[in-house]
Amino acid sequence: MNSCVTGLQWGDEGKGKVVDILAENSDIVIRYSGGANAGHTVVIGDEKFALHLLPSGSVRPEMVCVIGNGVVLDPESVISEIKTLAQKDITLDNRLFISENAHVVLDYHKKEDQLREQSLGKNKIGTTIRGIGPCYADKIGRSYAVRMADLRDLDALKEKLQNIIDYKNKIFAALYNAEPIDAGAILEKCKLYADKLLPFTIDTTEFLHKAIADGKSLLFEGAQGALLDLDHGTFPFVTSSNASSLGMPVGCGVPAKMVDKFIGVVKAYSTRVGAGPFPTEQDNEIGQLIREKGNEYGTTTGRPRRCGWFDAVAVKYTAAIGSIDEIALMHLDTITAFEEIKVCKAYKINGKEITFFPANAAKLAQAECIYETVPGWEGDLTKMKSFDQLPENAQNYIKLIEKLTGKPITVIGVGPKRSQTIHR
Ligand code: GDP
Ligand code: IMO
Ligand code: MG
Repeated sequence: MNSCVTGLQWGDEGKGKVVDILAENSDIVIRYSGGANAGHTVVIGDEKFALHLLPSGSVRPEMVCVIGNGVVLDPESVISEIKTLAQKDITLDNRLFISENAHVVLDYHKKEDQLREQSLGKNKIGTTIRGIGPCYADKIGRSYAVRMADLRDLDALKEKLQNIIDYKNKIFAALYNAEPIDAGAILEKCKLYADKLLPFTIDTTEFLHKAIADGKSLLFEGAQGALLDLDHGTFPFVTSSNASSLGMPVGCGVPAKMVDKFIGVVKAYSTRVGAGPFPTEQDNEIGQLIREKGNEYGTTTGRPRRCGWFDAVAVKYTAAIGSIDEIALMHLDTITAFEEIKVCKAYKINGKEITFFPANAAKLAQAECIYETVPGWEGDLTKMKSFDQLPENAQNYIKLIEKLTGKPITVIGVGPKRSQTIHR
């Protein structure tokens, strides 16, 4: 049984928690896209782990973890995550495998991300400044890209880096009047990265195909959310990778056909970090209340997340493009004690009612939401163990989302802990 978990909103849906739970019945967890822009939280007992590049299965001591070719890998982030887990006596030796074809995020990518965002002023994307866009741009551009395999030949890398950094410095000086980057310092860092990370670096495509032949159970872990997908999200306010499940085959070399179940994760409401249209946003007391109750602050950047009602138009669309079989609905506990709750069931754009999501920021910015309003519920959901225990109005809310998205909700989150999960 192979499964793929992806976010169906703008990220931070609770993928880390869902992957952690499903990992119990899997052999290998694979990250296939994004980079250290991701922040996936796993809570085990009283301990909280925030993972950026290591798959969320890594907190389980025996779990095999793969970082696929589609990931842009910031060596400093991975090294620091490995160290953090080691301090808790969790070692990654002989069970973490990094693709030799994964592209490497270096200091100049982060600098470029920061300089570009600064220069964009009010038009900025609101990136995480983790160098994601510049690194993927170098991948697409080919000539100035560095892959993990390049760390194996430091002499050749020295020459390559000199060329790349000469080029980058010209751009930094001309466009941003910025200080040059020192190629020597980056090469020194690369020596350290090679030392620490080459022992984990292999041909992960070959590894995964062997695992499939051996009957292993694979769990693919998406990063970000489908509405941040470069091609299918709210462009240009997206990330630079295919964050929907469509990015999975490309990002690890395993065909989508091999996946038995695509699980889409959503929150019982919506959040977004960074700029871009957000039709159901509640930039008011309601949004503030959701933020405080749900502790909606970024796992990676600490930024307050923008909050709003559940958008069934958006999720119906992302579930369709993501070939989603089942939905995991997280944070149901967070929207307890609201007198009424709204769900967006259609948009009005230029006077016309539409139900198919327009993946285009300019069009979406004009969308007015048509809501269905339902009564809220009271009580402490965090200890409830079954669907039947939930207040009737909460059950009806779940059924309404199922009706509007056309997908069954099989997992319900009622708190951040593993045990605070209802399986249906
Ligand atoms: P990810 O990026 O999709 O893995 O999600 P994040 O980790 O960035 O953000 C989700 C946050 O919600 C984390 O702090 C989780 O611990 C927390 N969380 C996950 N599921 C639930 C839930 O059902 N209820 C509550 N209250 N918190 C949850
Ligand atoms: P996880 O995996 C939420 C957002 C940024 C910004 C846009 C582009 O934890 O769900 P980037 O740094 O990728 O160039 O920023 O994408 N973003 C996320 N938002 N969760 C994430 O990851 C995100 N990764 C990127 O806030 O709006
Ligand atoms: Mg997150």
